[in-house]
Amino acid sequence: MNRAPQPTQPGAPEEAAATAPDDAGRRCFLHACMGGMSLVSAGTVAYPIVSFMRLPSTLAESQVLRIPLASLSEDQALYHDHMGQSLVVLYTNKTPKVFDAACTHLGCIVAWDGVQRTFRCPCHGAIFDDEGKPVSGPVSRPLVRVGFEIANNEIVVS
Ligand code: FES
Repeated sequence: MNRAPQPTQPGAPEEAAATAPDDAGRRCFLHACMGGMSLVSAGTVAYPIVSFMRLPSTLAESQVLRIPLASLSEDQALYHDHMGQSLVVLYTNKTPKVFDAACTHLGCIVAWDGVQRTFRCPCHGAIFDDEGKPVSGPVSRPLVRVGFEIANNEIVVS
C-alpha cells in the first residue's frame, strides 16, 4: 500500500506532502479495525447458533439419571425427580427396581413403608407390594415400572 509521493500542489502546504505515509498507516489501521469488528460481529452471530446446535447433547446427558448401587440398601427406597416425573428406586431381595411413584388410582405419590415392605398411597389408602402390585384400596393396576440398566455400578435411567 505504499503510494508514490504525490507532487505538491502549488499553494498546498508542505505538511500535506509530509503526511502522505501517515494516510497509508491510517488506512491500514482502519482496515484492521473493520476486520476486527467483522470478526466480533461474526462471533456474536455464530456463538448462539453453535451453542444451540450443541444443546441437544447437553440436555441428553442431563436427562440421564444415575444412582450408584452403593447408595442403596435392602428395603430402602430412594425418590428422585426425573424430567418432571417422581421415580422411586427400591432395593428388595437384593434386586433394584424403579417405579413411577405416582399411584395408579389418581396420581398421588406413594410412600414406601420399609417395615411393612409396601407402598402406601396417602390419598385414598391404596397399598402396593414391593413388586408394585396392588394389595388393597381403590386400585387395580400396578405401579408403573421404569426401565433401567446397570452400568459402572450405577442404575442408569434414561
Ligand atoms: S390416588 Fe392413590 S389411592 Fe387414590
